Amino acid sequence: MSGQVLVAYATKMGATAEIAEAIGDELREHGHQVDVRNVADVGSIAEYDAVIVGSAIYIRRWRPEAVRFLRKHVDELGDRQVWLFHSGPVGPDKDQEQELPMNVRRPARLIGTPPVMTFAGRLDPQTAKGFLARRLARGDLAGDSRDWKLIKHWAAGIAGAISSPARSE
Ligand SMILES: Cc1cc2nc3c(=O)[nH]c(=O)nc-3n(C[C@H](O)[C@H](O)[C@H](O)COP(=O)(O)O)c2cc1C
Repeated sequence: MSGQVLVAYATKMGATAEIAEAIGDELREHGHQVDVRNVADVGSIAEYDAVIVGSAIYIRRWRPEAVRFLRKHVDELGDRQVWLFHSGPVGPDKDQEQELPMNVRRPARLIGTPPVMTFAGRLDPQTAKGFLARRLARGDLAGDSRDWKLIKHWAAGIAGAISSPARSE
């Protein structure tokens, strides 16, 4: 059974985009039609039955374009199945769940999403952008902590939970 699914991501250094692609691949393997897009490039969500929104975390916050997306589409998202994830923890704290940032809690509550899923992230000297990121990427936080098995497992659960739209024809 297939529904039209959007995986919308917000990234700075690319790690979250690759997580979104992996989620999209898994959903496709389960027969869904999926678009994986940068949240900043998404205009209308009218064609989607289910939406997965994910952002990288910086200083305990989501990327602003992801927050804007949730706020802008809060009513339409409320009529759809929606899941949230964020990618952040690296280094020794890589398995620590991250709280939903304060300014994401309100739209999440209005939409009625399940609790956010935390995925470990990547901080790599090759991809680090900005002075602070490059500096941190030389320390003990450096590395790719993304757990592809966990990401696929989460996506497979969503694939099973997405209900197909009722077709009247
Ligand atoms: C300056 C800076 C601040 C960060 N702040 C957080 C944070 O508050 N919480 C967290 O879990 N991860 C934090 N991270 C880790 C990033 O979220 C992680 O590297 C993420 O995978 C990057 O995603 P992206 O490549 O999609 O931008 C921070 C990284 C940098 C460079």
